Amino acid sequence: MIIPRPRELAFLGGSVAFHPDLVRHAPPDASLGDEGYRLDVGPSGIRVTPGGRAGRFYGLQTLAQFGAAVPYGTIEDRPLFGWRGVMLDVARHFMPKTFLLRLIDLLAEHKLNILHLHLTDDQGWRLEIERYPRLTEVGGRRGGGPAPSGDEPRFYTREDVREIVAYAAERFVTIVPEIEMPGHAQAAIAAYPELGNHPSRRLEVWSGWGISEHVLNLEESTVAFCQNVLDEVMDLFPGPYVHVGGDECPPGEWERSPRALRRLSELGLAGPSEACRWFVGRMAEHLARHGRRTICWDEPDREPTPGTTVMVWREEDALPDRSDIILAPHTRTYLDYYSSDAPGQPPAQPGVVTLADAYGFTPDPGVRGVQCQLWTEYMPTPEQVEYMAFPRLCAFAEVAWGSPGDYPDFLRRLDPHLARLAARGVRVGPLIP
Ligand code: ACM
Repeated sequence: MIIPRPRELAFLGGSVAFHPDLVRHAPPDASLGDEGYRLDVGPSGIRVTPGGRAGRFYGLQTLAQFGAAVPYGTIEDRPLFGWRGVMLDVARHFMPKTFLLRLIDLLAEHKLNILHLHLTDDQGWRLEIERYPRLTEVGGRRGGGPAPSGDEPRFYTREDVREIVAYAAERFVTIVPEIEMPGHAQAAIAAYPELGNHPSRRLEVWSGWGISEHVLNLEESTVAFCQNVLDEVMDLFPGPYVHVGGDECPPGEWERSPRALRRLSELGLAGPSEACRWFVGRMAEHLARHGRRTICWDEPDREPTPGTTVMVWREEDALPDRSDIILAPHTRTYLDYYSSDAPGQPPAQPGVVTLADAYGFTPDPGVRGVQCQLWTEYMPTPEQVEYMAFPRLCAFAEVAWGSPGDYPDFLRRLDPHLARLAARGVRVGPLIP
């Protein structure tokens, strides 16, 4: 459960006033699953039986949500999905480390266990790479003319990443890094023009939104560059997954480049439409050699690259029939869309995902996981991210845990939950049922 349903628990009548001294920790019961737990609450106190370490943590989260009075009863609880993710785009707008730590706390409180950081895009490169310092020196700041004084590149240092990863691990959250390629890579090409299809041309880190036509070239040296970047990424992020993007890669530059066309023919590829899949495959092979699993976004016209887990962002009714996928349908999980069609809202991505849409997401229980997305073109600040995330993230969290129920009941439980978040300074957007 994410937001408790006290009425379900209170079948014995009565409640116990919460005090940490009243909590007894029973030995683990593996049958509950690593993330599962059982709470037994009665006149003599509270017993937490965890499945594993994460289960103990989640049992205590549930107790904390009951507040001062924990109702008598027993609850056995475990998640439906092993991947319960939130993606935050820190490329379009950089988010300070302090905010990431706060967001990790909020995720953990909602029993979410993946923070996927979209670290690079056309508009920014936000991760220090020692071997290629210009990625952040140039890519850490958007183009569009001379920088105002004091406009320093903004990115996470290696030390920042180690702190974020460790903080997350203590809260059972895994950080999944995304390095986007071969499209959505204009910031990298601005830093190292030899990565592009016109190495003599100087590009800026893009200051517009959308899909840049400038993509990585197909040279072996560019493959090696990206694999070297991934080596540093693997060193910094110990989790099993690395995301390499792979979405929205316009083939126009390759179609018009004699060099790219020659390279396609050397590689035996039928045409530019196969190049993106090939590029992602080269990264997947490299990551697999180092024991990591590659994730990429799905693309409508492309067969998934073998050996990758696909993150599916298409319409819900166009989802592939596969189990090794993470569902992120934009119609349910893009929290950068407006939350209603009411006038007067701050600018957001065109599209609407209401709270009811988010709660009504019914993912196939056979998939690997589910994820909601916070793209930040229209979220310049942490305040705006929180405003867009909440309350829809609470609905998503119940879906991801596998405990959604009746929507009116959710709304009743949500009210006091949002009041608790707001009291702690979380900037909660409007509740529009
Ligand atoms: C995406 O929204 N391009 C993954």
